[in-house]
Amino acid sequence: MLGDAQRLTQALMQLAANAVRHTGDGDTVEVGSAVRDGSVLLWVRDTGPGVAPEDHERIFERFVRAGSGPRPVEGAGLGLAIVASIAKAHGGTASVHDPLEGGAQFVLDLPLRPVIDAGATTVVLPAAEAAR
Ligand SMILES: Nc1ncnc2c1ncn2[C@@H]1O[C@H](COP(=O)(O)OP(=O)(O)O)[C@@H](O)[C@H]1O
Ligand SMILES: [Mg+2]
Repeated sequence: MLGDAQRLTQALMQLAANAVRHTGDGDTVEVGSAVRDGSVLLWVRDTGPGVAPEDHERIFERFVRAGSGPRPVEGAGLGLAIVASIAKAHGGTASVHDPLEGGAQFVLDLPLRPVIDAGATTVVLPAAEAAR
């Protein structure tokens, strides 16, 4: 795929930082990737408390911080909004899922074919053309 390595790294770092923040001793944080059905999937998964179903969509909005209990002062509820915008700039999506074993799995689903975000207009090139 064609992607902005710096921005994708930034997105994964945001997800990893969240995962670390929401886990403790004995928990695990896992980072993975796969190619499936024309998509590149990049995910960060943790065995922390997970995200309530009613919060699955809204945590990707700006300034939304879900859940209760103590939380560190850093973080303004912008991390996931940035992650979502990076996914969108690549023509893809960011979402959170509930693994059967518990915890949270944040997934970036990005199209394999190159998408060039030219600001207002998004130009999608067929792979063969982009390879030229
Ligand atoms: N790995 C995670 N496990 C559980 N909840 C999470 C996780 N990552 C994010 N969240 C929830 O989503 C909210 C928004 O995350 P984010 O946009 O990164 O903001 P911030 O980290 O500044 O709170 C968090 O406040 C938290 O409620
Ligand atoms: Mg965050």
